[in-house]
Amino acid sequence: MSVFEGKHILLGVTGSIAAYKAADIASKLTQAGAEVDVVLTEHARRFVTEVTFRAITRRPVLIDLFDEPEERQIAHIHLAKRADVLLIAPATANILAKLAVGLADDLLTTLALATQAKVVIAPAMNTVMWQHPATQHNVRILEERGALFVYPAEGMLACGDVGAGKLADTPTILSAVETALAPPLRGVRLLVTAGPTEEPVDAVRHLSNPSSGKMGYAIAQEAVRQGAEVTLVTGPTLLDPPAGARVVRVRSAQQMLDACLQVYDGVDVVIAAAAVSDYRPAEVWQGKRKKGEEEWTIRLVPNPDILRTLGERKGGRILVGFAAETHELLENAQKKLLEKNLDLIVANDVSQEGTGFRADTNRVTLLWASGRQEQLPLMSKREVARHLLQAVCDLLRAAKATKGASA
Ligand SMILES: Cc1cc2nc3c(=O)[nH]c(=O)nc-3n(C[C@H](O)[C@H](O)[C@H](O)COP(=O)(O)O)c2cc1C
Repeated sequence: MSVFEGKHILLGVTGSIAAYKAADIASKLTQAGAEVDVVLTEHARRFVTEVTFRAITRRPVLIDLFDEPEERQIAHIHLAKRADVLLIAPATANILAKLAVGLADDLLTTLALATQAKVVIAPAMNTVMWQHPATQHNVRILEERGALFVYPAEGMLACGDVGAGKLADTPTILSAVETALAPPLRGVRLLVTAGPTEEPVDAVRHLSNPSSGKMGYAIAQEAVRQGAEVTLVTGPTLLDPPAGARVVRVRSAQQMLDACLQVYDGVDVVIAAAAVSDYRPAEVWQGKRKKGEEEWTIRLVPNPDILRTLGERKGGRILVGFAAETHELLENAQKKLLEKNLDLIVANDVSQEGTGFRADTNRVTLLWASGRQEQLPLMSKREVARHLLQAVCDLLRAAKATKGASA
């Protein structure tokens, strides 16, 4: 049975040039068994008519806050209570701003305030509008409140510009609604490590690496969206903490290991994306070492190996590691996979343009303990996170099946 069967979806359509694409979304949801109530903003009506949606959904289309399609029911409260998901597609810059501040000046915004249903938002707009700090700020606010965003794709826009702002395609939007209805990682306890570690040399200096933490934070954020209970153990980064994750901040590799071990008993999956310093200074200078003419030799000693330690006490957990390499990528990743008792490793060539440290994109190869390999094209770190979590879901399912068979 489809996850949409018998579910009540409120589909808000706003005044974007992409409004016509909402007809396809309404149609696919209806075909999949959902009951779809379409709400058009006044501006959406300039682009599409209610006739289309009424014919597709075979239900009244709602526009005016004061309309009462069912007698004795206040429409917005009744609809808000019944909804399993409020999907807004396409969402204009205007609706994002209104939702972020909690305005309720028409039916759609009033519904959005009155519902406790999961909210899925698929924006569509001109690239400059999308990238505007006001819009990005509103997106962040709404994400922090738990809204699930289907980010716009890049491509040729109706205005002739090329860039981000195109409404995501229907399958991607439907899969986000599916995630909202049945979060695939619900009940899964996940530990993610992220960022660099810093190994102090004296009171003001440290050894570190250029990891920004973006990959690990994207994994933590996506896992929360997919229903996981996430603990993020993070080295120092400049990133906003992912909404909904429990965040433990550490500095050195030893502190990261201690923080991981503290929660290890209570987790089902570990994704270790942190760039941990392999070495630390043997002695830490007390206070700040003053500048002088003489040489300063710093002796380095190995840090504890976090992944190896976790791998040695793996139990029934799923362990995923990252291998950031500059040469012999797959050979080195394969070696690490075996040595550290991992189920899956993400091999990441950090010498390439647009991949690895600090970039917003990544090009990775997934290597499974079973010998399977999958090379992913260059994609955003958020998309890499989605692929990786899909692989984790598959591993959890396989582990459950094996356990069931041996019980
Ligand atoms: C031809 C045309 C296309 C538009 N396309 C978009 C769009 O894709 N995204 C967007 O945010 N605004 C777009 N706008 C501007 C919105 O329609 C405008 O901000 C309006 O106030 C949105 O109202 P609503 O959010 O209540 O539907 C467009 C306007 C016009 C005239």
